[in-house]
Amino acid sequence: MKIFCGRSNPELAREICIYLGIELGKCIVHKFKNDNTFVRIEENVRGKDVFVIQTSAIPVNDYLMELLIMIDALKHASASRVTAVLPYYPYARSDKKDQPRISITARLVADLLETAGADRVLTMNLHSEQIQGFFRIPVDQLLASPILCDYFSKSGLENFIVVAPDAGSAKRAEKYALTLGLPMAVLDKRRDPLNDTVEIFHIIGDVKGKDAIVFDDEIATGGSMIETANALIEQGARDLHAGAAHAVLCGDAPRKLQESPYKQIVVTNSLPVEGEKKIKKIKVLSVAPLFGEAIRRIHEGKSLSELLRKHL
Ligand code: R5P
Repeated sequence: MKIFCGRSNPELAREICIYLGIELGKCIVHKFKNDNTFVRIEENVRGKDVFVIQTSAIPVNDYLMELLIMIDALKHASASRVTAVLPYYPYARSDKKDQPRISITARLVADLLETAGADRVLTMNLHSEQIQGFFRIPVDQLLASPILCDYFSKSGLENFIVVAPDAGSAKRAEKYALTLGLPMAVLDKRRDPLNDTVEIFHIIGDVKGKDAIVFDDEIATGGSMIETANALIEQGARDLHAGAAHAVLCGDAPRKLQESPYKQIVVTNSLPVEGEKKIKKIKVLSVAPLFGEAIRRIHEGKSLSELLRKHL
C-alpha cells in the first residue's frame, strides 16, 4: 500500500500515515509560470494499492486539477489500484438541477475522477446521498457523526435539544438526536441562490428554555448557523452549540462565528482549520483514525460495514 497527498491538507494525510504506521509517499507537485500543474511521483508504484488524499479546500479548482493529474500520473506509473480519498467532496452542493440551465457539477467531478483513472472513492459526509450514485466505481462514505456525538455526550446533555438548520439536514439531525437521546427541532430555512444568503421562516419544535446543538454537514459562509442562532434565541433557547463535519469557513465566516452567540463550534479536520480560521470558539476533532482504519480495511479487502455501523 502507498499513500500520497496533494497540497490541500497534508497535515491530515500525515496523521493518517501515523495511524497506519507507514511513510507518506513522495511526490513533487508544483505550478509552472504558465499556471499549468506539474506532478511527478517520486517512488515506484508499479502493482501497488495507492490512496491519494486530497480534500476540497480553497482554491477548490486548483486542488481538484492537482488530484486528477496525480491519479493520471499514478495510473501511467502502473499502480494497480488508485483510491481517491476525498475527506470533503468537491462541488458537493452542486448535486441537483434545482434551477434552469445549471450544471450538476458534483456529477461532472465524478466523471472526471473516473476518466482520470480512479478505481474507487473514499469520502465523508456527502452533502447528499445521491452523489454516491454519480459513480460507476465503488464509493465508501464515512460519517463524522459518532466523533461529534462522542464529544458532545461527554459534556452532559441535560435539557438539550438537537436542531436541524433546514429540512435537508433533518434526516441527519434525527440520527444525532437518536444517538444522543435528545428531542429535535427543524428550521424552515430558505437560501437566495444568487447572493448566497439565508433566511429562517419557522421553527418546528419547542426550543424554549433549552440548550441547543445545531448540526449541519458544513459551515461555509456561516450564514445558516448565524441565522439559526438568531431564530433560536428569538424563540427562547438558552446556550447554543454547533457541530459540523466540514469547516469550509469562507470569507469572514470565522469572525462572524467568533462574534456569534454560539458557545462553541465543533468541526473536524476534513478541511484544514488554521490561521484566521482557528478562532477561539472552534474545536477541531480529528478524522485521521477513521480514514486510517477505512484505508486499512479497503487495502485488506475487509468489510467497512462494522466501521460504518459504529459510525451510524
Ligand atoms: C446547505 O444545504 C448545507 O447543508 C449547509 O447548511 C450550508 O452549506 C451552509 O452554508 P453557509 O454556512 O454558507 O450558510
